[in-house]
Amino acid sequence: PEPAIEPVWTSQEGSMARDTALNRWPRIVQAMVDDVTFAAKSANEPQRLEAEELTKSLDSIREEIVADAALKPLERDGSSDIQRYNDQLVSLGTVSWLNSPWLFAECYMYRRVQSLFARSKGWKGYDIFKRQKDESLVKSRAAVEELATHFVENVMNARLGGRSSHAEEQKLLFLEMTQIALWGNATDLSLLSSIGVDELGSLQGRNAIEKNRRNVVDDASEAVWSYLAKPTRANRRIDIVLDNAGFELLTDLVYGAYLLESGQADYVVFSVKDFPWFVSDATHSDIDSLLEHLDNSVLFPNRKYIEPLVRRLRCLFEAGSMTFRSHPFWTEAASFHDFETTSPGLFKCLRSSALVIFKGDLNYRKLTMDGLWPHETPFRAALGPLGAGSGIRILALRTNKSDVCVGVEDPVRLESLTRESPKGEWLRDGKHAVISFSDGS
Ligand code: F6P
Ligand code: MG
Repeated sequence: PEPAIEPVWTSQEGSMARDTALNRWPRIVQAMVDDVTFAAKSANEPQRLEAEELTKSLDSIREEIVADAALKPLERDGSSDIQRYNDQLVSLGTVSWLNSPWLFAECYMYRRVQSLFARSKGWKGYDIFKRQKDESLVKSRAAVEELATHFVENVMNARLGGRSSHAEEQKLLFLEMTQIALWGNATDLSLLSSIGVDELGSLQGRNAIEKNRRNVVDDASEAVWSYLAKPTRANRRIDIVLDNAGFELLTDLVYGAYLLESGQADYVVFSVKDFPWFVSDATHSDIDSLLEHLDNSVLFPNRKYIEPLVRRLRCLFEAGSMTFRSHPFWTEAASFHDFETTSPGLFKCLRSSALVIFKGDLNYRKLTMDGLWPHETPFRAALGPLGAGSGIRILALRTNKSDVCVGVEDPVRLESLTRESPKGEWLRDGKHAVISFSDGS
């Protein structure tokens, strides 16, 4: 029988949940206050006055966190998901910032911030994280150039040779492109509040990938390839549930383009967030902004490979081979174990996809209910209702940034991980990762 697993709480001593609530959240909210203060300097008079209210409200969220106040119901802002947040809060009883399910409280925090802007007059739609997202993209220049070169030389040009090239070569390219999309996730900005934007280079690009490749603790990429390469596979749509904007987003668009060019899919659908979320998550406008930044020859002066790459990406969007869509479910607090009941329409839609690729740490936490499962638990078991019999084919590409990690089924491997990082560093350092697959059968 499966052990009864509960979501991790922010009260759990020694957990990443507790550390985040105590240390990271206050810093993240302070950065929001600083951003609005800065933006207000170039705003008009009514906006400036409103900015004072906004910074006061943000400040009081930070104070509530530090004082471990009770979580209070969200105020209505016209969106229907507020009711669901509040229902969930009621069902939890009295919970406080430092004594609540981590996943719920963290989503609640970003939703509460969003509702401040949604209820404002002059700051609706304002992206409080945009400055940080842009800054990190520009600092990722070397990795962007490297990625563009790789795509143009190995995907657009010779190596694919259409669908007829050698099977082994196609497989190797798939494994390589999957690694690139995976390690693009190493740099989310909510972590950079502790490691600094200047360290980006050490986490991106070929060297970092080569160095960390052996750190994939659950690697199902061969099984994914066997599934994708089946000649009988009828379904031709692949979904990518995006995580972060900037460099990671570029790796995801490139991965989508590769899946099309290599004949693994006829359509790739990217899911974005409805509003700024977990600092660096991609919204619709982040896709436009990424392509515009890449068009800018001052920011990206080395044009040789970037230009054909961007042209190809735009072309795939214009042709409708790549599309993106958003859905309120992605910014709700529900774990994906409750997917079908919370969002039956979206669930049904994903069931008709050939493969749903979930990027990043937060999606992985939601897939696994944010539970501290024994690490040897098979991925499909930790997926609960999304695993066996769900009819959804799931691939998670995630660098480890929180305590939940399953699928390390080899006891020798697990033992050596525990020995090498006695404080559980392998779970949090972003240098270990999983490529986990469940075929939903
Ligand atoms: O703070 C929670 C968390 O899931 C971290 O574990 C991680 O650093 C961040 O949010 C989000 O990571 P990602 O962008 O990969 O989902
Ligand atoms: Mg993210």
